[in-house]
Amino acid sequence: MIPPRVHLPSACAFAAAIVTAGAAACGGSVEAEEMRRRSMKGETKGETIVLKSTLPQEWALPDPQRVGEISLEEALQRRRSVRAFANTPLTEAEIGQLLWAAQGVTDEAGHRTAPSAGALYPLELYVGTPDGFFHYDPARHGLTLHKPGDPRPAMQAAGLYQEALGDAPAIFAIAAVQERTEVKYGARAPRYVHMEAGHAGQNILLEAVALGLAAVPMGAFDDARLSEALALPEDQRPLYLIPVGRAATEPPP
Ligand SMILES: Cc1cc2nc3c(=O)[nH]c(=O)nc-3n(C[C@H](O)[C@H](O)[C@H](O)COP(=O)(O)O)c2cc1C
Repeated sequence: MIPPRVHLPSACAFAAAIVTAGAAACGGSVEAEEMRRRSMKGETKGETIVLKSTLPQEWALPDPQRVGEISLEEALQRRRSVRAFANTPLTEAEIGQLLWAAQGVTDEAGHRTAPSAGALYPLELYVGTPDGFFHYDPARHGLTLHKPGDPRPAMQAAGLYQEALGDAPAIFAIAAVQERTEVKYGARAPRYVHMEAGHAGQNILLEAVALGLAAVPMGAFDDARLSEALALPEDQRPLYLIPVGRAATEPPP
């Protein structure tokens, strides 16, 4: 059964990065084990421990659906930018499906749903939800916690306070490592990377329609502010934000 709200990992994994010693038992690492031992002996009373690196932070998403309810033509016909969302979260299955649509692996050679110049795959995909900011790993169709805490207010601030960024239960972010493409294509790399972000973005938009969801692609944001807020690695540049949710009003039939 699809959970009623986004069912990203257990409460332990999503506890804020800073927790009290008693919660250390959530972690499975050596450090967490040591903390649990000290906690049981009463050595950690009141101590605040940073657990960011000790919590389990990776997990697999549900298998994506390969058959949908509506045709590609119908999705193309219905797609419209929607900027007002109902206050209902996306499910884990919906989030996984949208990520797969953008960059999912579709054969044993590692090719993906979106084409890539030279199959060099410069794009990195993230999603921000109330539970945290997550990085998508196409190879294992899984997520990794990239930054704890709800990133959406910071994304909205970096996105010129556009309302859709404040309303959406999930904001997808497409970033790129241009150097991966430069290795082969030199000065044409920026052009190729931007084209690829467009491919992946459109896939998210069409998948959203196919799932009965609504979305809007956004290019208006402050790059530096967004990169800092999301703790993006130095070599990654944000290219696209795509808030996704359930339309506040029903889409036309
Ligand atoms: C590259 C790009 C950047 C965009 N940036 C924004 C944006 O920052 N904010 C926004 O509300 N819409 C943005 N849009 C959506 C356009 O406003 C929208 O596509 C256009 O009005 C046409 O409407 P439609 O998408 O419903 O066909 C962007 C679209 C593209 C392709």
